[in-house]
Amino acid sequence: MSASIPMHAVSIDLQDRSYSIAIGADLIAHPDTFAALPKASAALVVTNTTVAPLYAASLQAALAPHYKAVHLVVLPDGEEFKTWQTLNLIFDALLHKSCDRKTVLFALGGGVVGDMTGFAAASYMRGVPFVQVPTTLLAQVDSSVGGKTGINHPLGKNMVGAFYQPQRVVCDLATLKTLPAREVSAGLAEIIKYGPIADMVFLDWIEAHLGALRACDVPALAHAVRRSCEIKAHVVAQDEREGGLRAILNFGHTFGHAIEAGLGYGQWLHGEAVGCGMVMAAHLSQRLGLVDAAFVQRITRLVQGAGLPTVGPVLDAQDNAGRYLDLMRVDKKAEGGEIRFVLIDGPGRACVRGAPDALVRAVIDACCATGA
Ligand code: NAD
Ligand code: GLY
Repeated sequence: MSASIPMHAVSIDLQDRSYSIAIGADLIAHPDTFAALPKASAALVVTNTTVAPLYAASLQAALAPHYKAVHLVVLPDGEEFKTWQTLNLIFDALLHKSCDRKTVLFALGGGVVGDMTGFAAASYMRGVPFVQVPTTLLAQVDSSVGGKTGINHPLGKNMVGAFYQPQRVVCDLATLKTLPAREVSAGLAEIIKYGPIADMVFLDWIEAHLGALRACDVPALAHAVRRSCEIKAHVVAQDEREGGLRAILNFGHTFGHAIEAGLGYGQWLHGEAVGCGMVMAAHLSQRLGLVDAAFVQRITRLVQGAGLPTVGPVLDAQDNAGRYLDLMRVDKKAEGGEIRFVLIDGPGRACVRGAPDALVRAVIDACCATGA
């Protein structure tokens, strides 16, 4: 696998918080991958019960030449464990091992491990360095880049957290070979989103290579991860703390977060909720006169072709649209109780704006299982 895939590096330009994203095959087993990180005597690898038996030993071995001690903490696996209680297991490990404020944390896993490890790094002794080693497609194309870290609250997704940039991101494409097909589809949702918000040429490419991506063809994955990271890095470099522009990266997420919180975390995968959310947001864009029906059909076909749901779940048998609206009012983009949606206002261009409740209700009715 490694022979045919050269290593790529994408840079994210954030002044003194700049870093590089290494993309290649078989990276995590090589000590050189982790050279020139901040000096420390100890490292802590944070992972979960699924990823630990697959990749923890080779990462620990690659880190061994760089640190006197390489510790390991293994968290329970699942979105439902993205909580204060699980976060505390990382602090427990750091304190039990007498880790000092130079200790480097390594997040080995998907977005759940990455978001929690980043938040632990942001707050342990008021901040220690960390490195993202994402092992899901979703984490390689999105969550490991840009410094959003945090945990869920029962009332809202990712409601507690911090902006805190990693020192480096290492996307080892070889780790994706063990990823279940459903997780590959979930990752495709975050890849697809970059097309309508920023790059229609990339959208054409995704459509043409959807089969190869679903089959985890490594050259196709390499291009998708690289282009996704380039787009995300470009947006984050302009608006690191989401004062405005960065919100476009949340296309599909307002409806999607409502689905995740409304069903209970872990029922639908994050990427599945985002995929369906993009279809709903495309419909809302059409009802506001921003795009035509052909564009909505194109997004719907692509989401479906990626193996993702396009029909929303019923969250409340009595007042489904009302339940979605209540959940979406907890969204971080909401301002003064007004829900703000990421909408497409022309192919390859996104905007963030409110919409009348009646219109949103009509979209939910049309897009959910009970709808027309
Ligand atoms: P995840 O972390 O739950 O991983 C999905 C599943 O795949 C888990 O069971 C995991 O153990 C398993 N897994 C991971 N790597 C594997 C491998 N190589 N082989 C086999 N199994 C493997 O989910 P995810 O989709 O990676 O991430 C979703 C999370 O990311 C959500 O909590 C979401 O809110 C967050 N997110 C954050 C950002 C951000 O900017 N910080 C962006 C998007 C999503
Ligand atoms: N996933 C959205 C962001 O990083 O801003």
